[in-house]
Amino acid sequence: MSTYILGIESSCDDTSAAVLKDDVILSNFIANQEIHRKYGGVVPELASRSHQQNIIPVIDQALKEAKINKNQLDAIAFTRGPGLLGSLLVGTSFAKSFALGLGIPLIEINHLQAHILAHFAQKPEHRIETPEFPFLCLTVSGGHTQIVRVNHYFDMEILGQTIDDAAGEAFDKTAKIMSLGYPGGPIIDQLAREGNEGAFEFPHPNISDLDYSFSGLKTSILYFLRDQLKKDDDFIENNKRDLAASIQYTIINILMKKLVKASKETGIKEIAIAGGVSANSGLRKAIKDGEKKYGWTTYIPAFEFTTDNAAMIAITGLFKFQSGAFTDQKVTPYSRSNANFQND
Ligand code: KG4
Ligand code: ZN
Repeated sequence: MSTYILGIESSCDDTSAAVLKDDVILSNFIANQEIHRKYGGVVPELASRSHQQNIIPVIDQALKEAKINKNQLDAIAFTRGPGLLGSLLVGTSFAKSFALGLGIPLIEINHLQAHILAHFAQKPEHRIETPEFPFLCLTVSGGHTQIVRVNHYFDMEILGQTIDDAAGEAFDKTAKIMSLGYPGGPIIDQLAREGNEGAFEFPHPNISDLDYSFSGLKTSILYFLRDQLKKDDDFIENNKRDLAASIQYTIINILMKKLVKASKETGIKEIAIAGGVSANSGLRKAIKDGEKKYGWTTYIPAFEFTTDNAAMIAITGLFKFQSGAFTDQKVTPYSRSNANFQND
């Protein structure tokens, strides 16, 4: 008999619902909140209000696209954290009441584990290759940058992580400094395609072990631009493609250096990337190039599974469903998670 799981994601500014039949995605519907563009970043209070407006139509749409009735669902998986508390609360409360009403199990999901396990979700058209355990996953999003050793679905170990800004923030904040718009990652990615990555050189952080730091890069870009703007008011406008390419090149090099180190230290050559920044064309190419350079087998997610989506929540829910890891109705969200991907 097949298992139908509904996934609900509401940790940041996207409201998403997905239906899985076993490990196959029947629907994965995402409502982006445009309102935040106006403010150049996510406004938490506006995000939770939009989730409230979106959640019922989004779930309704996901069920319709999956061509199933709510009574066919076997369980409801939802993002418990980390993320914005107000936003998480909307998804959590809805998931709790919906599961209670339908009399089916409730399953809490850690958003970061879900980004990684998105690699196991299958599309209906054809089956994709999934990573073999143990593998390393570079999780790069707007809030996190981590190298994770994945021994099994729920046996994950953070080998290194950022001590300050996340890789996505490095993109977003530099785009903001350059007045390019929000979110900065896709805009820089687009501009970089037509720029010269060697045009400007920015310093690399000197951080020990497998950890990352991106706040120094942001500051050096800020000072560099400030000095150039003193000489030429139009410096950014005239050089935006080269600037974007050089900044992206630096961020990718920083990310790759530690990932290569982690692979050498652990001897693991199964390499995956996850999270919003894994949509970056330069990073995807750099990872892929690792196949020839380092003998890696690489797993690069389809674009719709890079940024926040509920399919990743539902597939993680399926693995928990199979082991009977259900959640009590007393559950509350958490904004941060610790090294064991638990409530902090
Ligand atoms: O995983 P995600 O959707 O949300 C979080 O959990 O944070 O990641 C969002 C981040 C943003 O910082 C955004 O700028 C970045 O992913 N991003 C990109 C690209 N697309 C999204 N960064 C670089 N290049 C892209 N193409
Ligand atoms: Zn995310």
